[in-house]
Amino acid sequence: MGVVATGAAVWPLADSMNPSAEVLALASTEVDLSPVAEGQRISVFWRGKPVFVDRRTAEQIKAAEEVPMDELPDPQLDEARVQKPEWLVLVGVCTHLGCIPLGQKTGEPRGEYGGWFCPCHGSHYDTSGRIRKGPAPLNLEVPPYSFVEDEVILIG
Ligand code: FES
Repeated sequence: MGVVATGAAVWPLADSMNPSAEVLALASTEVDLSPVAEGQRISVFWRGKPVFVDRRTAEQIKAAEEVPMDELPDPQLDEARVQKPEWLVLVGVCTHLGCIPLGQKTGEPRGEYGGWFCPCHGSHYDTSGRIRKGPAPLNLEVPPYSFVEDEVILIG
């Protein structure tokens, strides 16, 4: 599993005169991606929400890039959803009614499009986290993040 360090670790004691320090500590999450193998998914928490990080295989990337836009309920190019094709970063909250989709753990169903499956009402997401089938209206959200090192991201 990935080693996860939150911003909280670098704040010793929040200065009581500066409450924004505590807020800042919660606002961002740093994630070391280097232990994540190709094809592996890890979950981290950011602002109380699960964030899915998926180190995609070449096949998963190809599948995501080849989908015609007219097959997508919420059309969005894969390249617009990633900063590096191998790393897909998503807020793991179904855009229907907020359940946490399955597919992060080995053996969990990933739905008909190989991404994630929300069992609450049957929404299927693809390998770009885009909604493909079911009642969810929108793609899984991509949170704000940046690469602070080659294999370290800062979410938030
Ligand atoms: S909450 Fe995911 S399908 Fe309804």
